[in-house]
Amino acid sequence: MNFKGRDVISIKDFSKEEILHVLDVAEKMLPIAEGRKKSEMLRGSIMSSLFFEPSTRTRLSFEAAMKRLGGDVIGFARPGTTSIQKGETMADTIRTAESYCDVIVMRHPHEGSARMAAEFATVPIINGGDGAGHHPTQCLLDLFTIQREKGSIEGNRVALLGDLKYGRTVHSLSYALSLFGVDMVFIAPPELQMPHEVVEECEELGAHISTATTLEGLEDIDVLYVTRIQKERFPDPEEYNRVAGIYRIDAHTLSEAKEGMIVMHPLPRVNEISPDVDRTPHAAYFRQAFNGVPVRMALLSLVLGATA
Ligand code: NCD
Repeated sequence: MNFKGRDVISIKDFSKEEILHVLDVAEKMLPIAEGRKKSEMLRGSIMSSLFFEPSTRTRLSFEAAMKRLGGDVIGFARPGTTSIQKGETMADTIRTAESYCDVIVMRHPHEGSARMAAEFATVPIINGGDGAGHHPTQCLLDLFTIQREKGSIEGNRVALLGDLKYGRTVHSLSYALSLFGVDMVFIAPPELQMPHEVVEECEELGAHISTATTLEGLEDIDVLYVTRIQKERFPDPEEYNRVAGIYRIDAHTLSEAKEGMIVMHPLPRVNEISPDVDRTPHAAYFRQAFNGVPVRMALLSLVLGATA
């Protein structure tokens, strides 16, 4: 399996075997990610982190991953501080950045932007989220979290709750879970249900999918994946106001849950998960956020051709 020089644009570009390989490498990275072991694996390599959209976890965990492996980081978190403000195109920004680094991680509000950047760049492009499109590295860390928390990806019943229309994390995750034959229930108000093409693709891969508008049958769920309503993607603020706050999970909601059921969330949460859930054994979302570091270390080392 050769990942050297490869772009990471969509989880659909990965086979199940390749996904499992990334997760295996991530497992080996854990002592370095936790700061218990030092590494110089990527010494002399530079990662550009180009964030055209807000981010906390994706950007910081990519930067931490690069630094934990001895590499360096350049980049921006706000395009307003760069020549984009003067009217420079994304193509020219990418062409310039690539001449300063060995790998580019980018996030952009437009769907398809990472794929387009990969056409201009000769260094690997890693998609840190393109509009409502894809979020492959979040998907890999979500799978890694399920594997670590539940012992395996297969055999779980997963509920995806919230904004399934605009949420890029659930577009990527539902596809990947289908590769593992996982049963899923998509819970959303009708106007925020999973796009038809995503459902069709999952079903073609053999996934068994049901849909619902309310969270019921919690006693049969192994993983509850909660998402934020993606306010910034709504064309009409009125439409957002109609669905804002529609779901809220609290400790009481979880009284029906199975003992080992985990609650995941890519974060940031707004009000979908009450802070009283944090103290329950179900809360896995902060461990999930940490898992971004070993998984992104694995991806960086693989695309840069470094060996563990
Ligand atoms: C998500 C994103 O940016 O898509 N956050 C993340 O990367 N952890 C989810 C969100 O913004 O709701």
